[in-house]
Amino acid sequence: MKNRLLFLGPPGAGKGTQAQLLSASHHLLHLSTGDLLRAEVQAGTPLGQEAEAVMARGELVSDDLVLAIVRHRLEAHSGGWLLDGFPRNLPQAIALDGLLAELGQSIELVVLMELEEPQLLLRLLGRGRADDNEAVIRHRLEVYRDQTAPLIAHYQAQSLLRSVEASGTVDEISARIASLLS
Ligand code: AP5
Repeated sequence: MKNRLLFLGPPGAGKGTQAQLLSASHHLLHLSTGDLLRAEVQAGTPLGQEAEAVMARGELVSDDLVLAIVRHRLEAHSGGWLLDGFPRNLPQAIALDGLLAELGQSIELVVLMELEEPQLLLRLLGRGRADDNEAVIRHRLEVYRDQTAPLIAHYQAQSLLRSVEASGTVDEISARIASLLS
């Protein structure tokens, strides 16, 4: 059973929803950089203060900051993990490859969750998080296309990428993902 996983996909595809369920059922560390950054903002730490305005604009927080968060968590953990929302651009992906080589670990599967833009927008507007207003969502989608989508080719080249249709019910999508894990 594969237990070192990465979820890739545009904002609103359901990465967080599925990552939470799968990490609970398979006892994986769920590492969501978005959740970790929001916790820092909430706690008012220097890191959170630095990240807050960037996140509100829908742009990417600095690679160094995000990498420090991920390194800290992965170094302290020996079991399986599920990365959700990280890496977000090629420099982060290359840094992750380096960090995992250092730790003697490797990614076993990258799940690309695919959903059309109108559905993404509907889901995010229905949620109403601080960065879920239409202008910021459109910018996050642009950032995804420009900076994150190139990771598809990066992981395809490593034969790690599998795509999942992210429409339908939460249970239907969970079943599609579960079928890729064996
Ligand atoms: P992050 O928190 O990662 O947000 P995101 O990628 O924009 O993803 P979302 O949480 O919006 O979507 P999701 O795919 O997880 O979907 P979800 O399950 O929530 O990042 C936020 C910000 O943090 C970034 O913009 C950036 O500033 C910063 N950041 C984070 N990581 C970074 C990094 N590595 N580098 C630099 N900066 C970083 O679902 C969405 C909604 O749809 C929910 O309401 C959910 O209930 C609903 N839903 C889910 N599944 C279904 C379904 N099947 N049917 C109907 N509704 C559904």
